Amino acid sequence: MQKTYITTAIPYVNGTPHLGHAIDYLLADTYARYRTQQGDEVRLQVGTDEHGNKIFKKAKELNIPVEDYVSENSKKFQQFITKLGVEPTDFIRTTDQDHERRLQEIWHRLEDHIYKDSYEGWYCEGCEGFVTQKEYDENDGICPDHKKPYEKISEENYYLRIADFKDKIKTAIETDEMKILPDFRKKEILKLLEDSPDVSISRPREHLTWGIPVPGDENQVMYVWMDALANYITVLGYPEQDISDFWPANVQIVGKDILRFHAIIWPAMLLGLGLPLPKTLLSHGFVLVDGAKMSKSIGNVVDPLDVLSRHGLSAFRYYFLRHADTFLDSDYTDEKFEEAYNNELANDFGNLVQRLATMCKKQNLNGLADFCPSIDEEYNNLMDNFCFSRAFDYAWAKIQAINKRIDDTKPWALAKEGKNEELKSLLESLVSDLMNANYLLKPFLPEASEKVEAVFKSSDQIIPPLAPLFPKLRSA
Ligand code: MSP
Repeated sequence: MQKTYITTAIPYVNGTPHLGHAIDYLLADTYARYRTQQGDEVRLQVGTDEHGNKIFKKAKELNIPVEDYVSENSKKFQQFITKLGVEPTDFIRTTDQDHERRLQEIWHRLEDHIYKDSYEGWYCEGCEGFVTQKEYDENDGICPDHKKPYEKISEENYYLRIADFKDKIKTAIETDEMKILPDFRKKEILKLLEDSPDVSISRPREHLTWGIPVPGDENQVMYVWMDALANYITVLGYPEQDISDFWPANVQIVGKDILRFHAIIWPAMLLGLGLPLPKTLLSHGFVLVDGAKMSKSIGNVVDPLDVLSRHGLSAFRYYFLRHADTFLDSDYTDEKFEEAYNNELANDFGNLVQRLATMCKKQNLNGLADFCPSIDEEYNNLMDNFCFSRAFDYAWAKIQAINKRIDDTKPWALAKEGKNEELKSLLESLVSDLMNANYLLKPFLPEASEKVEAVFKSSDQIIPPLAPLFPKLRSA
């Protein structure tokens, strides 16, 4: 059995889950479900990134012990993941004892590539990262993502010698040994890699208390990115256990803002450990709200739990998996969401199920209990290349084609004319089309898809669902 490993970025826990966080999870879960359908044994990792000054300061501000603060917020992410219908096999917290111990061993193993030096540079606490003087100048001293001035930091740090691995990383990216998707991001990374300096991987304890100690130097604490990136292998048991069944990962899913950490520091760590590089790094776009970045100051932050409770899981997955292009930024507004729900999910799909089941019932047709979906190479090709929104479009076109086929063949006219045999075989063929399309939709809309199966894939008589699968929203 083929083994597949899929990873997601682990969010900081200095806040609760927001809409943007959902994207990593939904893409990863969709791929996991698809690979499972294809017969693979799948591991899907999720987790929380719990160290660093940002988190420490927030807990202090709220006057909560930092351990309690991170545990509470980590739980909220866990609940959020469940609410999204995501079924991970592994949940890792960077405060897990196993992770801490394993990370220290990883540090030891990288020691040939680590050196200590003093450093002066510009730091953004929001990014938990240093920027070069060039970036500082281009951004006029203010982080464009966090709208805060960079801080000048001067301190002794340990460094990972990126220079030791640059050529190998470059070749791996160029040859697609480590494939970066989409292609325009690959070009950006190759450019960035050219003048990428060695990276600081620790900070003095007086500047960073909440983190994993550097082994053998009690004055230094590991940099949060070093800590966080390692989660992808510590969760598999590295270095104590042989991870070769699941490593290298088939795909690591991250947002565009953190691709650079995954495409430069992470491969350097892996090469230093003598481990293979991930097969694919998929960078997705951002969810904007009404064309703007979500921000508390603009007041346009959308609470995903609110959207979920108002419209349900299928509506949520439908919008963000189909209408958010996998690789580009996408836009959320209540209006667009409700329009997609009413016109597409409720009309195209929900009505089709109801309509077809009603016609089948009138003819006393039984479901297709032994139905076996046909292989669709075009769909598989899109899914294998992680073009999820396009694969979803493709599956949706099948739903629209069934609607059109019903309109064209007019089963009700056959019924009127008493052509019962013809009608039955037409309905059976339509049900079979629907079951095939439904199978393609299953990784995206597992919940709805199972309901459709319950109606048509049974040895009993087909009975239309008692309530519409997707009741129309009244506000629209
Ligand atoms: N802790 C780091 C990741 C470490 S992974 C080894 C981090 N956390 S985060 O909470 O800021 O972001 C978590 C994920 O959410 C990232 O993939 C990030 O790109 C994604 N998103 C955050 N805001 C987003 C949107 N508005 N839209 C889509 N994804 C966004 O970075």
